[in-house]
Amino acid sequence: MDGIAELRAKYLAEVGAAGDPDALESVRLSALGKKGEIALKLRELGRMDPEERKTAGPALNRLKDEIDAALRARKTALEDAALDERLKGEWLDITLPARPRPRGSIHPVSQVMEECAAIFADMGFRVAEGPQVETDWYNFDALNIAPEHPARQEHDTFFLHRDPGDNRPPHVLRTHTSPVQIRALQAQGAPIRVIAPGRVYRMDMDQTHTPMFHQIEGLAIDRDITMANLKWCLEEFFSAYFGTKVRTRFRASHFPFTEPSAEVDIQCSWVGGQLKVGEGDGWMEVLGSGMVHPHVLRSAGVDPDQWQGFAFGMGIDRMAMLKYGIPDLRAFFESDLRWLRHYGFSALDMPSLHAG
Ligand code: DAH
Repeated sequence: MDGIAELRAKYLAEVGAAGDPDALESVRLSALGKKGEIALKLRELGRMDPEERKTAGPALNRLKDEIDAALRARKTALEDAALDERLKGEWLDITLPARPRPRGSIHPVSQVMEECAAIFADMGFRVAEGPQVETDWYNFDALNIAPEHPARQEHDTFFLHRDPGDNRPPHVLRTHTSPVQIRALQAQGAPIRVIAPGRVYRMDMDQTHTPMFHQIEGLAIDRDITMANLKWCLEEFFSAYFGTKVRTRFRASHFPFTEPSAEVDIQCSWVGGQLKVGEGDGWMEVLGSGMVHPHVLRSAGVDPDQWQGFAFGMGIDRMAMLKYGIPDLRAFFESDLRWLRHYGFSALDMPSLHAG
């Protein structure tokens, strides 16, 4: 049959020249499509004599297969080239260093609050909270601090403004966490075991005082709680907190909301200007405490003939300074990033009962 070699040469050349999928498709249609040249040739087979058909038929089929294979190969080549082109544009250098992601740190006060909460939780205390803007009733009266009581002046209270003509007593920024005792008792009643960590405010500013600082309050009320339970509880706490056995010394004191009242010192030593807690024959005052005054229980709606217990209040910032050797209290609240990076904790530094 004539022309097969020409057809072959023509279409293989066209396939090779097709530069994109559309061009390749039109080559396919004109060669192998229903009305394509090879289809027409195949139709001509019917008009041939058998001898001629015997050679022309297979030759045409071979041509068809060959062009089909060439089309496929070209298609794959075009696709590969397109992919290469795309990958060139989307090239990523995975060896580049990652962009820095600034990481914050946990403030020592937050860390110490967590540590205290973990230790007291182990002794059955849950965390209670109260507002930082308090009524004078919760901050003073309910705690047995009468209006004329000198403790009201000693507290250097911040008062909030009232509108002119509004003669109700002003709200205050709470001067201690003790009002949370009242709120927790009102909410839950007795028996109760809570600690209340949080911010407190007093007008005071020098190397050891800032107008805002942190306290942790403790309260345990039940039928027969005594000062002995208080002492055990605090020694247990300090020993867990400092990671070493810590003895305490109770000194008689006075607080309007406790009777009897005691100031508590922890055992420590000063060697070469370095403070060590839990050893030596020095003592350092760390908190106030006592047996909750019957008036206080009564103002919180708890019957003092049925219930009694202890309370304590302790400075958290001071506890952080002692444990982590931080010298100046004011730096705690200056938000100096260098200080925070130096004294801050990683988020993964979970407080544990067994941390040293
Ligand atoms: N609220 C006292 C203060 O801020 C500390 C305190 C002393 C709290 C004795 C107590 C306590 O619960 O029993 O100075």
